[in-house]
Amino acid sequence: MGRRKISIIGSGFVGATAAHWAAEKELGDIVLVDILEGIPQGKALDLFEASPVEGFDAKVVGSNGYDETKDSDIVIVTSGVPRKPGMSREDLLLTNKKIIESVVTQVIAKSPKAILIMVTNPLDTMTYLTLKYSGLPKERVIGMAGILDTARFKAFIAMELAVSVEDIQSLILGGHGDEMVPLPRYTTVSGIPLSQLLPREKIDRLVDRTRKGGGEIVNLLKTGSAFYAPSAAAIQMAEAILKDKKRILPCCVYLDGEYGLKDICFGVPVKLGARGVESVIQLELTEGEKALVTRSAEAVKKSIAELRL
Ligand code: APR
Repeated sequence: MGRRKISIIGSGFVGATAAHWAAEKELGDIVLVDILEGIPQGKALDLFEASPVEGFDAKVVGSNGYDETKDSDIVIVTSGVPRKPGMSREDLLLTNKKIIESVVTQVIAKSPKAILIMVTNPLDTMTYLTLKYSGLPKERVIGMAGILDTARFKAFIAMELAVSVEDIQSLILGGHGDEMVPLPRYTTVSGIPLSQLLPREKIDRLVDRTRKGGGEIVNLLKTGSAFYAPSAAAIQMAEAILKDKKRILPCCVYLDGEYGLKDICFGVPVKLGARGVESVIQLELTEGEKALVTRSAEAVKKSIAELRL
């Protein structure tokens, strides 16, 4: 029995860091792809040379083509431009559309059975584009955003309460933009509702910081966007699928009536296992939460319309 194969398209900050997390977890052999000559090859060789030190067994190769990606189990797509200060994720749409179309065609030609994890922004729109463009079943095209947004919320809560990040459970719904819908009502610290540990105003401030969490990093870095947390989140999804863990995680998936939404890729809790998205979990929402979901869905729909598919 051979190892599983994970191909990562785009060997920039997110792609290379995803390779690092995947290697450390020994999820399988790794193929890094990029259009820049030497970059995927150099990063792959460098990462492989770390394996004797860290003690992981994984083949790591880099390429400017797709032959090496043949029969991948998982393909993580990070190719595309990141944002700079002053840009929204939407500003990337037309540039990244062209990149995603060309990448997805080549990915599917070599790995028709792969499950695709999308990372390129604007995330919900690029996930939708990939689904429509590839013709793959909706279970096999999954966008990474909810885990990242939720991780940010959890990180801010842990900082505020000075407690372990491990004890915090939370969920964020909606598009990967400033209209995302954090759910304090579904947030607990070791089972204790967040509302018993923090006053309302404090929670509101953490929610607001979470909504703008990506922008906070862009403004600090100035030359690119976040990559440690996004890549870790993508690898958590890959691990759930490769190990058939059946984890319940917030991911961007195609909705066909769930949450009252149709023909949209949107962040909701799903069960992730060997078949990809194994089910969509429907939450009970208050009227206020529903209104926030509607607002977020409208923003995503507007962005999807700009694809002019
Ligand atoms: N095929 C393969 N790789 C490509 C292509 C293509 N057609 N076009 C661009 N790339 C590569 C670039 O050469 C670059 O190495 O994608 C890589 C992107 O890396 P970075 O510029 O470092 O961007 P990164 O921070 O990794 O973000 C990538 O993920 O989080 C999102 O908003 C972010 O859309 C952005 C993406």
